[in-house]
Amino acid sequence: MAALAGKSWISSARFKKKLAENKIFKEIKRVYGRRHGRPLSASRQNAFEEIYPLVEIPLELLTEQGNLDPFSLFTPLTRSSLRSNHPLPHGEREEAATAAEGEGEKTILEIGFGNGERLAEAMRREPGANYIGAEPFLNGMTAFLKNISTFPSLEGGDQGEGVESTESTEKSNTPSLTLPLKGEGEMYIPPNIRALMDDALLIVRSLTDESVDEIYILNPDPWHKSRHHKRRIVRAETLPDYHRILKPGGKLIMTTDVVPLADWMQTETEIFGEFDWTAETPADWQNPPKNWIPTRYETKKAKGASKMTYLVYQKKGLPKAA
Ligand SMILES: C[S@@+](CC[C@H](N)C(=O)[O-])C[C@H]1O[C@@H](n2cnc3c(N)ncnc32)[C@H](O)[C@@H]1O
Repeated sequence: MAALAGKSWISSARFKKKLAENKIFKEIKRVYGRRHGRPLSASRQNAFEEIYPLVEIPLELLTEQGNLDPFSLFTPLTRSSLRSNHPLPHGEREEAATAAEGEGEKTILEIGFGNGERLAEAMRREPGANYIGAEPFLNGMTAFLKNISTFPSLEGGDQGEGVESTESTEKSNTPSLTLPLKGEGEMYIPPNIRALMDDALLIVRSLTDESVDEIYILNPDPWHKSRHHKRRIVRAETLPDYHRILKPGGKLIMTTDVVPLADWMQTETEIFGEFDWTAETPADWQNPPKNWIPTRYETKKAKGASKMTYLVYQKKGLPKAA
């Protein structure tokens, strides 16, 4: 992918100015912690400038009124970026957008995906689902964007060559979407991903009731000090939001290697009372669930961390009959 081939580290004034001007960085003040780290390589800058507009959830849709049907994010009507930004000729653009309409019945949300390796692998394994990811850290988001730009194009439901997967994949119904870059080669962007480089709660509070199948919150920031506990992404105030958007029987999946945080997430969820803990024996929370995809953080393990806790909760109520 020629446009993303740059290797040098750049801290260009132009890019910094652009970021400073970016409405995301200007308007949103709710994210605690770092928004960006070391300067981006040219290829990461390109990923941000070229790919992010194609997958970004427009801020104007994030009303926090619970009226955003996630399905609509993957339909032509709101795929404005696909329609207007990318350089396919108009007819083909319409065709690509329409082909993508309605693909994927399952909606999976990942909150704080870091560099997004897990999310990308999940997309490889289950390409028929729709994915929404939130990560406010620029360096993490751009790593993810670069990753998904290496996906092979899915032709007619074929996985194609080069798909790395540790288990068999479902046959894809996701259409091919190859975006020729201006004056460059070609780049395929999977059409079943939408992302936000911001506070995940903006998405959570905007999505409609019972619209999400699985929510992943993996290794959230622990905010150790008591006075910072109110910053934790899993807390009494946010659990009703996760509960509201999950379909009956939908899953809330949380992990951490920080024991007090594991206790906190488990206790808060039990007190909330509207989820069933799926664990039947200690082995169920001490070991990863079947077919688990480990995250980067989990693989690296925090300093001093010994054990991971895997908390899988299910929203009470039966899943709706298909
Ligand atoms: C400890 S890292 C874990 C990253 C990844 N889940 C993993 O396991 O490798 C926590 C992540 O949550 C992100 N984060 C923090 N506050 C967030 C928020 N309000 N919404 C979405 N993500 C958030 C951080 O930027 C960071 O990437």
